[in-house]
Amino acid sequence: MATENVDCVVVLDYGSQYTQLITRRVRELGVYSVLLPGDADMQRIDSHKPSVIVLSGGPNSVHVEGAPSVPEEFFEYVAEKKIPVLGICYGMQLLVQRLGGKVEAAVGKGEYGRMPVVLQEDDSLLYGPGSKKSESQQVWMSHGDEATVLPPGFSCVGKSEAGAVVAIEDRERRLFGLQYHPEVTHSERGQETLKRVLFDIAQVKPGWSMKNVLDEQIEIVKKKVGPDAHVICALSGGVDSAVAATLVHKAIGDRLHCVFVDNGLLRYKEQERVMDMFREHLHLPVDCVDHSKPMLDRLAGVTDPEKKRKIIGAEFIECFKNFKSEIEKRTGVRPTFLVQGTLYPDVIESCPPPGSDQKHSHTIKSHHNVGGLPKELGFELVEPLRMLFKDEVRKLGAIMDVPRAFLARHPFPGPGLGVRILGDVTANGALETLRAVDEIYINTIREFGIYDEIWQAFAVFLPIRSVGVQGDQRTHSHVVGLRAVTSSDGMTSDWYPFSHEFLKTVSSRICNQVAGVNRVVYDISSKPPATIEWE
Ligand code: XMP
Repeated sequence: MATENVDCVVVLDYGSQYTQLITRRVRELGVYSVLLPGDADMQRIDSHKPSVIVLSGGPNSVHVEGAPSVPEEFFEYVAEKKIPVLGICYGMQLLVQRLGGKVEAAVGKGEYGRMPVVLQEDDSLLYGPGSKKSESQQVWMSHGDEATVLPPGFSCVGKSEAGAVVAIEDRERRLFGLQYHPEVTHSERGQETLKRVLFDIAQVKPGWSMKNVLDEQIEIVKKKVGPDAHVICALSGGVDSAVAATLVHKAIGDRLHCVFVDNGLLRYKEQERVMDMFREHLHLPVDCVDHSKPMLDRLAGVTDPEKKRKIIGAEFIECFKNFKSEIEKRTGVRPTFLVQGTLYPDVIESCPPPGSDQKHSHTIKSHHNVGGLPKELGFELVEPLRMLFKDEVRKLGAIMDVPRAFLARHPFPGPGLGVRILGDVTANGALETLRAVDEIYINTIREFGIYDEIWQAFAVFLPIRSVGVQGDQRTHSHVVGLRAVTSSDGMTSDWYPFSHEFLKTVSSRICNQVAGVNRVVYDISSKPPATIEWE
């Protein structure tokens, strides 16, 4: 099984921007890892039966009142269970402070960024047999405070350029501290150090593979849904819902009923393409509900972005309710479960900032695809991807033979072109124009071989006209914006640096091939301060 009875690395999250990366790196090594908030109690930590515990970095100083820390009984617990502990940055300072050493502000001497760490001992436990005193390796350092007195039992096994203690170990108790981030790729031998701690020191056995996850989740879904209940899944055309549905279908077969709603705001041939993919490649039973007329009727004349979103959401729910009744009529059974493609970053809780009076805060949803349908629809949720990161979902999809072209698709927002046409979506032939422009844009991106480098690319229809000249005629036509961003989770993003050649080609294709467009602009805003979508 993937998550039960396998070795697990618990990472306690003290708020560093790299914390999720630690869990991912451990999973890349084939070892199951979970992230818990830094204020998790002992019972919660113990429930995962950790083989190793990592204390993450974080923005606090251990001296700040209310600074997060491990539970009172933590060190007795790890001693009794013989669990190795690795403290990273803030985590190392916690170890030092809580075990009787001293951490002081490195006033004016903080060290940040890439720099060498110099080993202080031959054959240290942390760097392994054969490691030599005065050897050095490049690491990604980050500290404002520093350990000035080490707790009893600890020795310094690495120092920074400026002479700060940046790697410590207590061989006896197998407690380790690093003042740098082994999880980031700038630390050239960081992954080696993590491997050393996991496999050589803690003797962890890898048990995390997508095949195991798949088998385990199929069993969980079977058990949860039971032999008779029926399940509904709304497919968005995106990766998460498709992978979740494929998995649930493997578990319960045709008691899964999928629906794809054509809300009238889809891209060029989107409905045909997505339906074809589900039927031909995934063999999933999918109903396509055409809800475009009621949707566009209600949106006619509406220009306020928030109102538009509300209408789109409400119409979707209406449509979904009808689908539920339809399934009940068809099968004689009222569906009681709903599949959602919720991912791990959406369920992770972070440690709250000191003094915030919060118990713990959930991370802001990484995108808006989750959140799903209102509670009053009365479904119990089935969320087979809850423990996975996006790249892991893609791997899971790949072993279930979801086509690669589909797994690599850019995200597409639920409200579709509704948030990409500024103003009234039904006016000025905006939908047809935008579909044509978007199709040319995406095809050109594919032709240039850069689709996979981009997180998301799309065109935007602007509610203005500009003067142009086409042939001998003056024109007064539409302006379209192009957007392409790079990102790892949609929370922040940067604009994609297209080549001059690409911009020239795409702009001339759009103006020549799409009637009514005489001007193309490229959006060079990052997020923040802009968002990815325009509305
Ligand atoms: P923003 O515009 O907030 O977008 O920077 C971040 C990511 O979320 C997608 N997005 C949405 N997805 N419903 C969705 O399903 C929405 O209402 C919505 N708004 C934005 C957006 O496409 C990007 O990937």
